[in-house]
Amino acid sequence: MERTLAIIKPDGVSRGLIGEVISRLEKNGLNIVAMKMLHMSKQQAEGFYNVHAGKHFFESVTDFMSSGPCVVMVLEGEGVIDKYRKLMGATNYKDAEEGTIRREFATDIEKNVVHGSDGPQTASFEISYFFNELEIVKNSTTIG
Ligand code: CMP
Repeated sequence: MERTLAIIKPDGVSRGLIGEVISRLEKNGLNIVAMKMLHMSKQQAEGFYNVHAGKHFFESVTDFMSSGPCVVMVLEGEGVIDKYRKLMGATNYKDAEEGTIRREFATDIEKNVVHGSDGPQTASFEISYFFNELEIVKNSTTIG
């Protein structure tokens, strides 16, 4: 069974979009098996986005991700990485398809409301960055 990490970013939380995002997950049958709210330090944000260290947007995105609380979740199900990426839409909301979360709610390429792992290895690193196995529900009811 595949897992992915989903984040509602500080812009999504401060704009009151937690319910909107979670509602879309549920309506589309994506199963939430762990969830918490946290406020990353700059150092924690740098560790999370370590794969982007050295890129021109690294300083800015780690400032942004540590600027306020996020909601972090683990989603589980067959093909969940791709399913969630389709719901989010492209990183740059201008390229995102109609009806996706980023197309409807993102305000720029950085403040794009949500994050999702881009593959199984990234998912494994990102999930373990925030959750231990005891915090992930087993045998949860599948919705949808
Ligand atoms: P995310 O999917 O969380 O992965 C890295 C984040 O960096 C991305 O979403 C954006 O919030 C931010 N970012 C800012 N500028 C860029 C860029 N030019 N390319 C990719 N990501 C960017």
